[in-house]
Amino acid sequence: MMTQDELKQAVAQAAIQYVVENEIVGVGTGSTANFFIDELAKIKHKIKGAVASSDATAERLRGHGIKVFDLNEITSMPVYIDGADEITAQGAMIKGGGAALTREKIVASVAGKFICIADGSKLVATLGKFPLPVEVIPMGQAVVARQLNAIGGDARVRVKDGVPMLTDNGNVIIDVHGLQIKDPSTLEAEINNIVGVVTVGLFARHGANVCLLGTAEGVKTLIF
Ligand code: 5RP
Repeated sequence: MMTQDELKQAVAQAAIQYVVENEIVGVGTGSTANFFIDELAKIKHKIKGAVASSDATAERLRGHGIKVFDLNEITSMPVYIDGADEITAQGAMIKGGGAALTREKIVASVAGKFICIADGSKLVATLGKFPLPVEVIPMGQAVVARQLNAIGGDARVRVKDGVPMLTDNGNVIIDVHGLQIKDPSTLEAEINNIVGVVTVGLFARHGANVCLLGTAEGVKTLIF
């Protein structure tokens, strides 16, 4: 039986074949993305560099001697490679467990393809068991939470060491518990429309193009 970390390692390795030589690669955030960064380091001489989706990822990339570009210097990149908290068989995802959803969504929007790397436990029939992260401007936290409750969720501000956790952008995260997301694209647009919301961690309108899923039978490739 492979451990969850071994499954993450396997998909991270499999993702290397999607990295395009002499190009810039978009790099996600989290434990699976960290395995990918460590694999990327082995072929770093073959790429131009990377764009990072968080300060933590930028630091890890630089630690391996991989050049990190500012997204404002880049107009396109062939692929963005990142994990997910949940993914459906249609390629819609919940992301933001690591609070990096906004930068992840921005970098992904510039990439030709989103390659999702995930262990098999992340594949679900319906999104929502994993609390949906929403990045919110701090002064709007209470009003946004009321509106998220009104759409049927249980909105809770993410806390770390007894205080609201702040993102790399200085905002708070509201985790919406108890949702059963039947129509991810519609809910993504609806939550994006709430004033005070910076980003919702639903990646459905621009979901994954490929998912490399780590299972006991090996890495499965889902194409959407
Ligand atoms: C961070 C994310 C991550 O991709 C997501 O939380 C999955 O993390 P892990 O690979 O550690 O399971 O969206 O904001």
